[in-house]
Amino acid sequence: VKFTVNEPDGSQTELEAPTDMGLSLMEFLKASEYPIQATCGGMALCATCHIRLENADVPEPEDAELDMLDTLPYVEDESRLSCQIRIADGLHGASITLLAAEE
Ligand code: FES
Repeated sequence: VKFTVNEPDGSQTELEAPTDMGLSLMEFLKASEYPIQATCGGMALCATCHIRLENADVPEPEDAELDMLDTLPYVEDESRLSCQIRIADGLHGASITLLAAEE
């Protein structure tokens, strides 16, 4: 699947990600050398993987993710934790904006 990643400085990159490796979006972004700390290792506990996700067809957040998002000072309707999102066909054409760096 292909999607676009927007960084806080305004730069935009189109990435192609494999759907058959069981990766989370956080793992893929980190492996692509985006500055995501992922301090908690993908447990929905640190929110350093916070993104804005638009034009995607992905499962709704589970309670752990919603609870974590609730604690953030800066949340949007499109906010997600990228560690809780699997790379799947629903991400094709999505727009992802890295938000953690702004907090
Ligand atoms: Fe910690 Fe996603 S990596 S909340």
